[in-house]
Amino acid sequence: MPIARLDAATPALIERLHEVYLAANDDPGPAMSLDHFTITLLFSSGCSVESYAEVRDGSVAGGYTLALPETDNTHLTLLHQLFVAPGARRHGVGSELLRHALARTRAHGRRLMIGESAATGPGAAFAKAHGFEAASTDARRVLDLRTIDWDRVTELHAQAVRHAEGYELEQWTGPAPQSLYPDLATLVTGMNDAPIDDLDIEDERWDAGRVADMEQKHERSGFTGCHLLARHSATGEPAGLTRIVYYAADHAGWARQGDTVVLREHRGHRLGLLLKVANLLALRDRRAGLDRVITWNAASNGPMVAINEQLGFQPFDEWHEWQLHLV
Ligand SMILES: CC(C)(COP(=O)(O)OP(=O)(O)OC[C@H]1O[C@@H](n2cnc3c(N)ncnc32)[C@H](O)[C@@H]1OP(=O)(O)O)[C@@H](O)C(=O)NCCC(=O)NCCS
Repeated sequence: MPIARLDAATPALIERLHEVYLAANDDPGPAMSLDHFTITLLFSSGCSVESYAEVRDGSVAGGYTLALPETDNTHLTLLHQLFVAPGARRHGVGSELLRHALARTRAHGRRLMIGESAATGPGAAFAKAHGFEAASTDARRVLDLRTIDWDRVTELHAQAVRHAEGYELEQWTGPAPQSLYPDLATLVTGMNDAPIDDLDIEDERWDAGRVADMEQKHERSGFTGCHLLARHSATGEPAGLTRIVYYAADHAGWARQGDTVVLREHRGHRLGLLLKVANLLALRDRRAGLDRVITWNAASNGPMVAINEQLGFQPFDEWHEWQLHLV
């Protein structure tokens, strides 16, 4: 059964795979546009990427993407977007794609594969059937912008501002100015403090070049968004970051909360709360016609979950990151 490699020269096959992705997608959260899907198949900052589609009887039956970290975590591969067309399921297509991905992982000399799926449903059943262990649990929460109590958000903002004296906020929309890349590298590195539960992974290393790649990926995915950086006024050091991104024309009205981080030496000043409420107010002021913001955290991330709950985020569902040590 032919498994075809996808690349920039196969846009028609990628488009057919995207149609299968939309049909196969049972995620009640936001779906990927064709632009976003295409970039995810071909490009990931800090990783090389391989993507494949399986064609059966002239139809695309499924596909997957394998990301190979190049600057850290070179012992593992990340399995993304393994899915099978609804009409082709339970005939071993998923297993065949996974065998192919495992062979690629071995060929690259890597000893661990990590994937993710909703904590219940076909993805979880498939992962367990293939010997993956649930190494971490992520909780998704949603904030409904149609019913949010903006007076409460404004009051939380005022409280946080009082505690965060000595810090100033810098805001931008769209791609970050290049002058911020070194600060963004420092801040994204701070994300290594987020809980990893039992995942066999090491800290990610970020520099300005990797930030440039990430920014380019966001832009080519069609995302725009609201970004806020907190800076320590006395030293000029970057202290914290948050961002919310969305497609300019997302008919489903989803916005996605991206990384939020406060660096260790700047914690305890309610900067996390300040960044999130100030960014929500900025999003409101943009009148982008969005309905909901979705956020992902390790379920064990107490401080971030507490802030989200204060803002009115409601539990949506749970996901697992699955890992398989190759023998
Ligand atoms: C998960 C998915 C890729 C499985 O594809 P598939 O081609 O149906 O998988 P296979 O036929 O190779 O199934 C292999 C085994 O996994 C388990 N399995 C797969 N789907 C299952 C389901 N819906 N319920 C229970 N077990 C299931 C079974 O043990 C199955 O063996 P069996 O059919 O002999 O009982 C497919 O359901 C899908 O695309 N789901 C949406 C995306 C997703 O969740 N991807 C997984 C990310 S880890």
